[in-house]
Amino acid sequence: MKVDLIIKNIKSLYTLQGPNRPRIKDEMKEVGLIENGIVAIKDGKIAYVGQGELPKEFETSEDTKIIDATGKTVIPGLVDSHTHLVHGGSREHELAMKLKGAKYLEILEAGGGIHSTVKATKNASFLELYEQAKKSLDIMLSFGVTTVEAKSGYGLDDFDTEIKQMEVAKKLNEDHPVDVVSTFMGAHAIPERYKDDPDKFVNAIIDEMIPEIAKRSLAKFCDVFCEKGVFDLEQTKKILKAGLNYGLLPKVHADEIEPIGGAELAAEVGCISADHLVAASDKGIDMMAEKGVIANLLPGTSFYLQAAKHARAKEMIKRGVAVSLSTDYNPGSCPTENMQLVMSFASLIYKMTPEEVLTASTINGAASLKLEDQIGSIEVGKMADLVILDAPNFEYTIYHFGINHTLYVIKSGQLVYDKYKYMGF
Ligand code: NIG
Ligand code: FE
Repeated sequence: MKVDLIIKNIKSLYTLQGPNRPRIKDEMKEVGLIENGIVAIKDGKIAYVGQGELPKEFETSEDTKIIDATGKTVIPGLVDSHTHLVHGGSREHELAMKLKGAKYLEILEAGGGIHSTVKATKNASFLELYEQAKKSLDIMLSFGVTTVEAKSGYGLDDFDTEIKQMEVAKKLNEDHPVDVVSTFMGAHAIPERYKDDPDKFVNAIIDEMIPEIAKRSLAKFCDVFCEKGVFDLEQTKKILKAGLNYGLLPKVHADEIEPIGGAELAAEVGCISADHLVAASDKGIDMMAEKGVIANLLPGTSFYLQAAKHARAKEMIKRGVAVSLSTDYNPGSCPTENMQLVMSFASLIYKMTPEEVLTASTINGAASLKLEDQIGSIEVGKMADLVILDAPNFEYTIYHFGINHTLYVIKSGQLVYDKYKYMGF
């Protein structure tokens, strides 16, 4: 077999080899490390993974590209499975309020926060949104992210803006090397004009928006901000079930700030993931473990909100919940595209081991997007999405925090990021 690309002499190759399902408990520590590893790629897929030399049956031609990864680390492409990628404007004006002690939900209630991004997103053209999101996607790619989830939710009752956001995500998925998976999140805040009758907005989402989005195939998932003063448990359940009826898989922003039973609800509905979970109860965690709901944790957000508490990742892992990690990149509660920083936070704040962090950011992130049979590990037949890190081992990248360790990114077998070319020399 003639191969297209070979990465050889890899000091530390983390394959994440194992079952194509979310990894739980001690499985999260098994990262399939091969020292002096080699990977061969053909037609965008992994053709061989091993140690030392390539076996004889694999041939090279003059077109075969060879990357010498002596002293380097290779991991599967990172999966950022929770972002609010497409939005207008920014919210640096909130910083001063926050430093004076204003809380996230107070800013939202006063008509700022998400509402201010709704205005900016409404006022932005398709092209402006596309350019802004593309810039972020480029940054994500530079940090080694090869698959990203993108939520709508900055249009709310302005359905055209919701659609515009999802159309931008769709176009970026077509144009950009990073794969973009779309989520409908019209239920992100209660719009001003529905303040006195939020159920009316819930009904509009269910009766008008969800059927149209499904008809236009604009989203794979449906998400709701289930929170005190935003959407309650009943409303969340109604929306997620309506989404399911139209083939939109459920996800939920659950127990981010107040413990209102979001984790329990995620288990009851059968969500693919419940996200945030800072205030999740023991009962909710156990119910999630039983139903196989993934805990998609966002340590950058609780850090940036200067929350008193963080998600209990280690307890969740102990109780059998599969944990994934994401940036939550958005203009309010977590304005960063830096997945590597989030991974360091997960280790330093949650006390997850580097191995658990790597599993959570690759195969478990893939499972949060229901893509675990295609991406998330370096195994024969899977998509050739991988990152070459300028580090002797993965642990080093967690320890040396806040910088970008990426040297090269390979997406579907193509070299799409080269640190030195990117810098122009
Ligand atoms: O996941 N909590 C709700 N949604 C986002 C924040 C969105 C925003 O503030 O613009 C989150 O934290
Ligand atoms: Fe979010």
